[in-house]
Amino acid sequence: MEEKLSSVAKTLTPSPIQQLSYLAQRCNAINLAEGFPDFPAPSHVKNAAVSAIHSDFNQYSPRRLLQQLIDQGDEVILFDPSYETYDTCIRLAGGVPVYVALEPPHWTLNSDKLEKSFTDKTKALVLNSPHNPTGKKFTKDELEIIAGACRRRDLIAVTDEVYEHITFDNERHVSLASLPEMQSRTVITSSLSKTYSVTGWRVGWAIAPTCIASAVRNIHIKITDSAPAPFQEAALAALSSSPAYFDLLRKDYESKRDCIFNLLAKVGFKMQFKPQGSFFVFAQLPESCPLTDVEFVEELIKQAGVVAVPGSGFFHANSSADYDYRRYIRFAFCKSEDTLAAASAKISGLVDDKGCLKLF
Ligand SMILES: Cc1ncc(COP(=O)(O)O)c(C=O)c1O
Repeated sequence: MEEKLSSVAKTLTPSPIQQLSYLAQRCNAINLAEGFPDFPAPSHVKNAAVSAIHSDFNQYSPRRLLQQLIDQGDEVILFDPSYETYDTCIRLAGGVPVYVALEPPHWTLNSDKLEKSFTDKTKALVLNSPHNPTGKKFTKDELEIIAGACRRRDLIAVTDEVYEHITFDNERHVSLASLPEMQSRTVITSSLSKTYSVTGWRVGWAIAPTCIASAVRNIHIKITDSAPAPFQEAALAALSSSPAYFDLLRKDYESKRDCIFNLLAKVGFKMQFKPQGSFFVFAQLPESCPLTDVEFVEELIKQAGVVAVPGSGFFHANSSADYDYRRYIRFAFCKSEDTLAAASAKISGLVDDKGCLKLF
């Protein structure tokens, strides 16, 4: 029967990341791999969900979420590296992902590379800022380059803004939709998951021009129906949080970022780029390390009891990149102080007399 599977289904095989997850579970490793907070969600949001359940919000709720805008063969521009899910979503919709490699160390957008990636089939572009896995926040100039291309080529921009409230060093998120003439061609997506530490609630949203919003709604109803009603009620309370909530969130995450960033710098990683947002530090392996990213993470699990994510899974345009994409490791710092302290102790315990990590 296997030959009856669609060609897309055949490409969706378990990744090395999943295999490393099994190893990490067996070794009971501290999880700096996955982007979920391991500390409690805010009380005002949880109380709102409990109160919605007590008030009998039990039936179908408003259905609005993003699914797809893509026809068979449409090309969609993605930046590389990128969050893995976009590739799968585009392929499942029959579209073709086209990657534009960002340039390290600051993961800069090169406007010539972007321009060369367009064809007559280009329909849309996906922008994620602040960015998973690098922690980059696209600059105003880069946003203007992207907006200019969307206007000139009549493209739809789909923005993934799940880390919109998690920015550092007094930087604030700027949505592509706020640039001139972009509101009418941008679909903003975001969710409760990261800002309110509720990745398991599965509540997200899309904000789009009316005609796109109704098409998105129609497709979404057919595929997933609605998000859970009590959690949608709690979303109202979450989105009405006080400015102090968001200030504290940024401050807390900034100190978590500093903790992991400084630790990795101390033990010899090449830290040329400090994350400006998101949950992640994307660290470059020390030059002296002969291991690939996957081998390194395997050793990190076995020797330090800590799991992170090999960077290569986030890269797709490997042949067009002029750097070695197997030399990055993604560390998630959206963890409690206890988890970060335990991981720091384990990693620091594995240094040689020069203070460098001796996993290899
Ligand atoms: C860039 C990005 N977009 C979307 C998601 C998924 O968010 P949600 O929990 O809302 O599905 C993640 C989760 O890691 C992410 O990093």
